Amino acid sequence: MESQTNQVVQLVSAIRCALEERTGLEVVQQILDRLSVLDLEARSVHSLTPQIPVQFDKGLTRAIDHIPASLEFIAQTLDTARPYLYWQPDGGQFYEEGSDIGRSYREGNMICTLVGPVNSCFYSNDLFICLFFLQPQTLYRDHMHEASEMYFNLTGPCGFRLGDADWADYPGDSLVWNRPWAAHATRVYQAPFLSVVSWVGNINGLCRVVPRDDWLALENKLTPTEPLESRIETGMNGHALPQV
Ligand SMILES: [Fe+2]
Repeated sequence: MESQTNQVVQLVSAIRCALEERTGLEVVQQILDRLSVLDLEARSVHSLTPQIPVQFDKGLTRAIDHIPASLEFIAQTLDTARPYLYWQPDGGQFYEEGSDIGRSYREGNMICTLVGPVNSCFYSNDLFICLFFLQPQTLYRDHMHEASEMYFNLTGPCGFRLGDADWADYPGDSLVWNRPWAAHATRVYQAPFLSVVSWVGNINGLCRVVPRDDWLALENKLTPTEPLESRIETGMNGHALPQV
């Protein structure tokens, strides 16, 4: 237990230190201000039974391997804390009822809540911070929400479509700020996507999909072409849940 809590403390501390060196965006300071009033010591860590969807285990290893040298301290602390983390898929529970989030996203994501109101390592009701994983060739469809959101991308390149702008690629160690109700989408190429995603503002608000007419074309374009055996080998066809 002591080992678990200490590793989680170190991981959150590493992320906080990295953000303190990347304060160019207003939202970063808002996140740091909310973190500064929390007790981020081991005594405040919630005890969650570790779990990870088995089909993403190798993908998470690949993602950690893709974290650039500039974020090496985060990669190290994440690798150490990894056995103690509680990952869960977003099957649409963060969305308005009936939202068409798409199979690509539904089957290709998992979330580990570090700070937040539910199933989190540290409790907060006005700050949400999670590790957000998407497997390769996933389309995370256009959506919006009231909360102000920051992606601190640990891996890349990955594509973002912000509002009506065209897709743009972002490397590992990059920041994206989605202001309240601003539409955004993410597409993942060969490298698994791993990002620290933070919400401030109405963190209990639901996401709303923003329909676009190119989703199916994008998802077909991202669909892997390697043999089925290879996809199973890399975990891209797995569905089993969960595994400690
Ligand atoms: Fe978002």
